[in-house]
Amino acid sequence: MTGQLRHMLRDDDISHDEQKQILELGMKFSENRFYRQPFAGPQAVAVLFDKPSTRTRSSFSIGVAELGGYPLVIDKSGSQLGRGEPVADTARVLTRMAYGIVWRTFGQDRVEEMAKYATCPVVNALTDEFHPCQVLADFLTIAQHRGGVDALAGKTIAYVGDAANNMSNSYLLAGATAGMHVRVAGPLGYLPDSRIVADAKRIAEQTGGSILVTTDPKEAVADADCVFTDTWVSMGEESEYAIRSKPFWDYQVNDKLMSYAKPDALFQHCLPAYRGKEVTASVIDGPQSVVWDEAENRLHAQKALLTWLIGKQRGDETLLA
Ligand code: CP
Ligand code: NVA
Repeated sequence: MTGQLRHMLRDDDISHDEQKQILELGMKFSENRFYRQPFAGPQAVAVLFDKPSTRTRSSFSIGVAELGGYPLVIDKSGSQLGRGEPVADTARVLTRMAYGIVWRTFGQDRVEEMAKYATCPVVNALTDEFHPCQVLADFLTIAQHRGGVDALAGKTIAYVGDAANNMSNSYLLAGATAGMHVRVAGPLGYLPDSRIVADAKRIAEQTGGSILVTTDPKEAVADADCVFTDTWVSMGEESEYAIRSKPFWDYQVNDKLMSYAKPDALFQHCLPAYRGKEVTASVIDGPQSVVWDEAENRLHAQKALLTWLIGKQRGDETLLA
């Protein structure tokens, strides 16, 4: 196998089989935290934040260290990127020192620009458009609770709330890649971009999945195996708080809405959660919720992803399984 530089910028950067391979690796890491150590050396991975984070920061910092590497965590306020240094120049510098670049930022064009100039793998740790690492962790959580990675294809997942945000987009693309039936519901004005829906439908046609976008939360949740929601006000949208507190009330995930899903349906939320807004305490703190497994799985899924990306770059098959 010859080396191949790969990035994870959006959920459809990997194929159905590759997603399965990464999730199987995630299962192994969840059973044995020190299953693989591709960064023995230690070699550094740069982890950059232009937005706040608790889970992504801790899971990448701890994850890179457990992989035998050194996590170089840089915040916007402490970097020249935050003072306007071009992304391309930052990429050219970091790529000469680090073995991977992980970045949480605003526009998707920024991570794409980073990847264009990097000669090491670049990972999207959340942009305004996508959050692919989160959804790998979410699917790992379903696999753990519902019969393994092979059982993901054919499952029905429902995302309800701000259907125009990064989580909604990532569920559409990653769910289609997995061969799932993806149902997304939000109010008019907060539905996904038609280009992302078209991409998801094209992928679903190949994997046996399907895509439904609706304004009816009950239609989305009907018979679902897993129900997801997210904040109604994403990072960067804080000035819209008053406007955004109105249109979503019919999309709150509460006991009534959960009753339309399968009786044993799982509930997941990427966190941070706002109880009494997008989800009631009775659901997120109730028996169907697996949000703490989901949060822990950020660690296992991202270690799997980094190991897989490094395996691809080195052409080292032993790192892919
Ligand atoms: N879910 C998630 O990405 O959490 P953080 O914003 O805390 O990283
Ligand atoms: N949609 C949320 C996800 C947080 C993990 C945001 O972008 O703020």
